[in-house]
Amino acid sequence: MIDFQGEHGRWSIFSLGKREVRRVSSNWGAFNPKPLLHLDVPSFPPYSMAPVNVKKICCIGAGYVGGPTCAVIALKCPHIQVTIVDLNQARIDAWNSPDYALPIYEPGLVDVVRVARGRNLFFSTSIDVAVQEADLIFVSVNTPTKKSGVGAGFAADLNYVESATRHIAAVATSSKIVVEKSTVPMRTAESMRTILEANSKPGLRFDILSNPEFLAEGTAIDDLFAPDRVLIGSLQTPEGKSACQSLTNVYANWVPVDRILTVGVWSSELSKLAANAMLAQRISSINALSAICEATGANIEEVAHAVGRDTRVGPKFLRASVGFGGSCFQKDILNLVYLSESLHLPEVAAYWRQVVTLNEYQKRRFSKRVVDTLFNTITNKNIAVLGFAFKADTGDTRESPAITLIRDFLSERAHVTVYDPQVEVSQIWFDLSEALPDVPLEQIKKQVTIANTALSAAQNSEAVVVATEWKEFRDIDWRAVYDTMKKPAFVFDGRMILDRDALREIGFEVMTIGRGDQL
Ligand SMILES: NC(=O)c1ccc[n+]([C@@H]2O[C@H](COP(=O)([O-])OP(=O)(O)OC[C@H]3O[C@@H](n4cnc5c(N)ncnc54)[C@H](O)[C@@H]3O)[C@@H](O)[C@H]2O)c1
Repeated sequence: MIDFQGEHGRWSIFSLGKREVRRVSSNWGAFNPKPLLHLDVPSFPPYSMAPVNVKKICCIGAGYVGGPTCAVIALKCPHIQVTIVDLNQARIDAWNSPDYALPIYEPGLVDVVRVARGRNLFFSTSIDVAVQEADLIFVSVNTPTKKSGVGAGFAADLNYVESATRHIAAVATSSKIVVEKSTVPMRTAESMRTILEANSKPGLRFDILSNPEFLAEGTAIDDLFAPDRVLIGSLQTPEGKSACQSLTNVYANWVPVDRILTVGVWSSELSKLAANAMLAQRISSINALSAICEATGANIEEVAHAVGRDTRVGPKFLRASVGFGGSCFQKDILNLVYLSESLHLPEVAAYWRQVVTLNEYQKRRFSKRVVDTLFNTITNKNIAVLGFAFKADTGDTRESPAITLIRDFLSERAHVTVYDPQVEVSQIWFDLSEALPDVPLEQIKKQVTIANTALSAAQNSEAVVVATEWKEFRDIDWRAVYDTMKKPAFVFDGRMILDRDALREIGFEVMTIGRGDQL
């Protein structure tokens, strides 16, 4: 690569099949436009087009994506050595714990790790060694929404991607295929390539692929075993296609080849944002209809069933709830909003922003319904919140609706008792402190209690609020719950999982999302 400073910024010539001249943007939040000029000269040095036979994989980031994804690759590809690395020593220690007390809860994950760990799957904080040895590196680090600076509140914070990329450049002693597994704004692959080429040792080559992950927490292992599709984006150069083939060969060990989609790198990056935006849009659509149901006496389950039977619509992701959460939907839509605004497409930005606005409305609407129903005040009342994770079968609490509900209840000066079967107590305190930055933790602890069981959470409460759809909440001894509660005893089902007729029979007053009283 040749670098020079021009009148309008810094310019670089990269070794591509076709030489390209691009302006390099130092701001990762900014959208980097198309190549400005093509120079039709052959790349130098001439590279072999044969796909690299991947024998060693390194995954940077041992989180909810890197851990399960690469554990499954190790399970399915015993001939490949997979090393998952992270800066976080405690997280790596947990992955290595003798009793398999893994840092994340995911059904089926322990079984995968039991088979592969120590065989061809390793967890380590020795990042340099793992990078140096690998033929292929997944970058699977976090990309949260920026909290300050340009694009704050919308753009993805690419700090972690950039430092992982710089780390690869600094320590690599041989050519690598670098795979963008994190969800990133469009054209991040280009920035990664710029950094790698500008900072690596001479003579090394880096092929960047986009391979976004579509797993859903709670079903990650099933999703990874039998994905709807694996998406691999590459430059459409001989080198790019060759790298794409190398990664395809890894997945082909267990994924049918007709499910491995190979596309251009920018299409791949956009497809991940688009998929999450469309999934979240369906939830916000059904949640918007749930508000109409509650006001009219229609039943959102019946409406969703009727609508979903149309094969053009389909039945999935039409379940009304207190709102979506998780680390991805909101962040990725806001990212799409930011991208649209950067491209001077304000109507497109407003369209996607509304999906998030509706989600906020749904959470607020639900907590207001609790207050309104409890005779317009919950001050000094005891509210039991069942569930703190953002969905069932995970311990992940990022953007969990439960956090917003509890924050609302605390601001009404209620006492809240929380129970969740998987979330660590320390995580609950951490999340509540973050949600209420102006309230000292000691004060929060005076208003919030964390219980060990659903039954003990409900004891002496005026209302039970179901915030997460854990199956065990359906199977609670609701008669025993009723006996421990103050009367009238209210249940607010934010996940439509309880049998409202059975609960009414016991004596509860029951409010279910998307269900109004018949007019
Ligand atoms: N969680 C999901 O369900 C999901 C699904 C699909 C895609 N994604 C995307 O995958 C990416 C990772 O998400 P996640 O949920 O696994 O995040 P996570 O926070 O659980 O894990 C990221 C890990 O990367 C580590 N890390 C950060 N910088 C590092 C560095 N320079 N070197 C080594 N380790 C580093 C962190 O310590 C952390 O353990 C994000 O871009 C996310 O949007 C997530």
